Amino acid sequence: VNILLLAPQFECSDTWRIAMAAAAPDVAIVADGDVDSAVIEGALVDEPPPGRLQYCTNLRFILSLSAGVDSLLADPTLPAVPIVRLVNTEMSALMREYIVYQVLRLHRRFDETEALQRDRRWVWLSSAASAASRVVSVLGVGHLGRPAAEALQSLGFQVRVWSRTPKQIPGIRCFTGIDGLHTLLAGTDILVSVLPLTPDTMDILSEDLFRRLPVGASIINVGRGACLREDDLLNALDSGHLAHATLDVFAVEPLPDEHPLWRHPRVTITPHTAAYPEPESFVKTIATALTRIREGDIPTVVDRLHGY
Ligand SMILES: NC(=O)c1ccc[n+]([C@@H]2O[C@H](COP(=O)([O-])OP(=O)(O)OC[C@H]3O[C@@H](n4cnc5c(N)ncnc54)[C@H](OP(=O)(O)O)[C@@H]3O)[C@@H](O)[C@H]2O)c1
Repeated sequence: VNILLLAPQFECSDTWRIAMAAAAPDVAIVADGDVDSAVIEGALVDEPPPGRLQYCTNLRFILSLSAGVDSLLADPTLPAVPIVRLVNTEMSALMREYIVYQVLRLHRRFDETEALQRDRRWVWLSSAASAASRVVSVLGVGHLGRPAAEALQSLGFQVRVWSRTPKQIPGIRCFTGIDGLHTLLAGTDILVSVLPLTPDTMDILSEDLFRRLPVGASIINVGRGACLREDDLLNALDSGHLAHATLDVFAVEPLPDEHPLWRHPRVTITPHTAAYPEPESFVKTIATALTRIREGDIPTVVDRLHGY
């Protein structure tokens, strides 16, 4: 099977290629231009050049290295073959670490302590509130959001989650629908979004949503930048309604030099690094996906209707 690799940011070393060849000996991972497009049966992609895959006339499946498939689905020429999301346990673990770390940082006011250190100020902030007194809400409880929500619950936080379809998770209050979202937001201290970007979630983190959060709430966005209206966020921070925003994803990446988010004193920025596992971690995931595709039991297929 020839699989075309179209993933400019995926750093596949020789070690990766050797491990891949050992895990899937009947598969050739080929670079663009190595073979005729007509002999390509699969594509391994992360942000592939729009329009390229339409020329693979015998394409049977697409393996997406990225958990977010919004840019892939935005290509109107994308062949109508199954798209498999290669979510692996390393990616879920990295996202869990990122979210737990950022929630704890806000919960224990370490963001403020870091600012005080920069001014060489030895100041005791008020005594730490208990985790049990904090409500942390997670929007999106799929492969990446759920492990983080469960870890936060195990640390003692009151955890609420929101998803498109109903969920039952022990010890966690689960919500769906717009009314469920509004109920969840009221009383939330820290809001975490791990939502995919779809027509329904675009701009969801906007003025209307921020207004429904209590004064002093904070937000963490690790889903997609276009789920958040950056101007609305800046207004909510400047008016004092929101206390802090921790952002890993942005409408335009890299975040432009002159963007006001860079210099905002109550914004923490990380460069889309929340959950970016090493290429080696994908070897087994890809090999397993290929075996299942061969057996006709295709895993984690993207639902094109819902956009994720
Ligand atoms: N920052 C990073 O480094 C990084 C890395 C990887 C991924 N990501 C982002 O994380 C996103 C989530 O990844 P994942 O693997 O967890 O995806 P997933 O398994 O597909 O889970 C998506 C979750 O969002 C919920 N959802 C989708 N549309 C919704 C809507 N309209 N209303 C309410 N809930 C909705 C889904 O609800 P159901 O459970 O009902 O389907 C599900 O719980 C990706 O799409 C990507 O954008 C970021």
